[in-house]
Amino acid sequence: MKREELKQLLKSMTIEEKIGQLVQLSGNFFDEDESIATGPISQIGLSEEVVHNTGSILNTFGAKKLKDIQKRYLDKSNKKIPMIFMADVINGYKTGFPIPLALGCSFDPEMVKKTAQISAHEASVSGLHVTFSPMVDLVRDARWGRVMESYGEDTYLNCEFSKAMVQGYQDNEKYNLSACVKHFAGYGAPIGGREYNTVELGERTLREYYLPAYKAAIDAGSHMVMTSFNTLDGIPATSNEWLLRELLREEWGFEGIVISDHSAVKELIAHGVAEDEKDAAKLALSAGCDIDMMTSIYSNNLKSLVEESRLDESYIDEACMRVLELKNKLGLFENPYGVANEEEEQKVHLCKKYRDFACDVVTKTCVLLQNKNKALPLSKDTKVALIGPFAQNKSISGMWSFTTDPEKVVTVENGFENLVGLKNIQCTKGSALLDDTDEIEGFGLPMAKEEKINAKEELEKAISIASNSDVIVLALGEHPLQSGEGGARGSLLLPKVQMNLLKEMRKLNKKIVVLLFSGRPLEVKEIQDNCDALLQCWFPGLEGGNGIAKLVYGDVNPSGRLSMSLPYSVGQCPVFYNSLNTGRPLSETSHMKRFSSRYVDMPNDPLYCFGYGLSYSEFKYDNLKLSSHELTNDGVINVSIDITNTSDVDGCEVVQLYIRDVVASIARPVKELKGVKRVDIKGNETKTVTFEINEEMLRFVGKDMKFISEDGKFEVFVGKNSEETIKDCFVLNK
Ligand code: BGC
Ligand code: BGC
Repeated sequence: MKREELKQLLKSMTIEEKIGQLVQLSGNFFDEDESIATGPISQIGLSEEVVHNTGSILNTFGAKKLKDIQKRYLDKSNKKIPMIFMADVINGYKTGFPIPLALGCSFDPEMVKKTAQISAHEASVSGLHVTFSPMVDLVRDARWGRVMESYGEDTYLNCEFSKAMVQGYQDNEKYNLSACVKHFAGYGAPIGGREYNTVELGERTLREYYLPAYKAAIDAGSHMVMTSFNTLDGIPATSNEWLLRELLREEWGFEGIVISDHSAVKELIAHGVAEDEKDAAKLALSAGCDIDMMTSIYSNNLKSLVEESRLDESYIDEACMRVLELKNKLGLFENPYGVANEEEEQKVHLCKKYRDFACDVVTKTCVLLQNKNKALPLSKDTKVALIGPFAQNKSISGMWSFTTDPEKVVTVENGFENLVGLKNIQCTKGSALLDDTDEIEGFGLPMAKEEKINAKEELEKAISIASNSDVIVLALGEHPLQSGEGGARGSLLLPKVQMNLLKEMRKLNKKIVVLLFSGRPLEVKEIQDNCDALLQCWFPGLEGGNGIAKLVYGDVNPSGRLSMSLPYSVGQCPVFYNSLNTGRPLSETSHMKRFSSRYVDMPNDPLYCFGYGLSYSEFKYDNLKLSSHELTNDGVINVSIDITNTSDVDGCEVVQLYIRDVVASIARPVKELKGVKRVDIKGNETKTVTFEINEEMLRFVGKDMKFISEDGKFEVFVGKNSEETIKDCFVLNK
């Protein structure tokens, strides 16, 4: 349709029809029987007319089902405006990939882009049009459950992943999903890590660290933006005119749809900024939130607000036009069913090519944290006791995996069997996953069934198996529902039963390898002290077991790096590498140690820093060279470094470039990531790796809240993680 025709369509619509476009409901409202919606309507207080005019549907799946819903809807609809089908396709649709935090640890945006392409292919043939992804909330506090959905603590990486995801979803020849970047803005910084809690970020911090990844998605063309649940400086994001109009639309030029997060419009009442539902509707729409997700606030109040002259109808028109524009962009007016196709679903879903790729992804996202005396890799004829609540567990896909089938998941045991057979492997749980006192509320996530175990018998069995083996591989971790939305934790420890299992195993004086499953950085100090090798596996998804087996047995050399610091103790949280120096930095202060910025009972540094990760190879860094020690406004400094793989094992090194602005008008972080290169280096080979530095990379948010750079001294660091680096300096002289 041409824009003129869209405008005509808008003109021809009744106010009810227009408001309908701003309402999103779940598929339950569109039951197969002819009455369309029955049960759920009364619960949410909607009339049938509203349901008949609904503009989009949330989290309903399958080509056949969605085509049926669309057809029935259009048959009844006056204006024949098709619905958009939106869903949470987060880390895979059928082919489940590792959780986003794990993807972040690949430091490999190109690979992550391919995961989005695969999701787009699988989900679009199932009839979906929009995914509520990428989630690019910057995270610094491991207590927050949704760190699992983020790419980590670094702004540069977040921007790279944000762009890659949007491109992967949207820029394909035929099979696309529209991206909806979320949660705008700052949702990843709730005070104390508590879910949905208040966010207090100064505008500079917000602009410099938190906002760029959303902007990167928008610059990459993201069709939609989702608001966040939190307040920012006292104003909820969903009614925040500065955020949604001034910043997003005027400053950044975003022209797509803004959707509220689930029920966030209604929550304006609980936030205490809206008196009632009507007030909430007025506040949210006038602030620039176009679609109300899953409440009846817009549908039941916008019309009377206009009739009472409390809201100008132009707000409704503007929001409705954006929805029509997306429908038009998606080609729905010409073909309301898109590429939904049951036969394609059969062909594409979980096809071998995609599964194999998912397995490669697992191998690049697990992070080897400790490997004493080369405990790993194992030789294939080692006698292995594979023990722990995650050894045979199929629930290793994380919270957003409801479109995947847990029964298809490759467990660690399956993976070991596929690679080396079960002749030398004995397997048992050893302990329950959770302590009796842990309470986990589900949310309809298809979890593999958990059998009750007899704790005493299980432990005895584990001890007996372990005693007869050369090495104990322990698959431990937190429950998948201890992270994700609503998964905030005040403790980052393993459940006690599992710690007890580890200690019992330690008593046997055997080599212990821990495979650690989690949706967040855990406190691993005690685990690390009781094992030889520690592999952080996150929630690796469908091909988890196969990928992990390849790493454990050395078919693939680990190359994952932490995209989020692992705290020494939960008491450090939030802890992140790119902090400010403070006036009394521990390492440099002239004051007594007591009066420096530190804890008296634990170190300042995390246990494992950002960028950390071991390999089976050893890499030595030498010969850092800068092509010049002065940078001009349009010049470039070439940075080169020689990296030697001093081992016999071929490996991949993740080379990291950091910069520090030593003196500026605004205090600058001690180090900021500015470049990453994943480099394959053969055993005993040396490679020279180069980076470029230009003026743009040195910008920060100045006193007037605009990005600027300032002349002066800069330090350059190149290294294998944010702590182990080689340093040089240059000056910027514009
Ligand atoms: C989450 C969003 C999600 C939405 C729809 C909300 O609870 O915060 O991330 O996209 O639900 O399922
Ligand atoms: C303290 C102040 C104190 C001053 C003089 C500083 O270290 O922070 O509170 O008044 O010393 O003793």
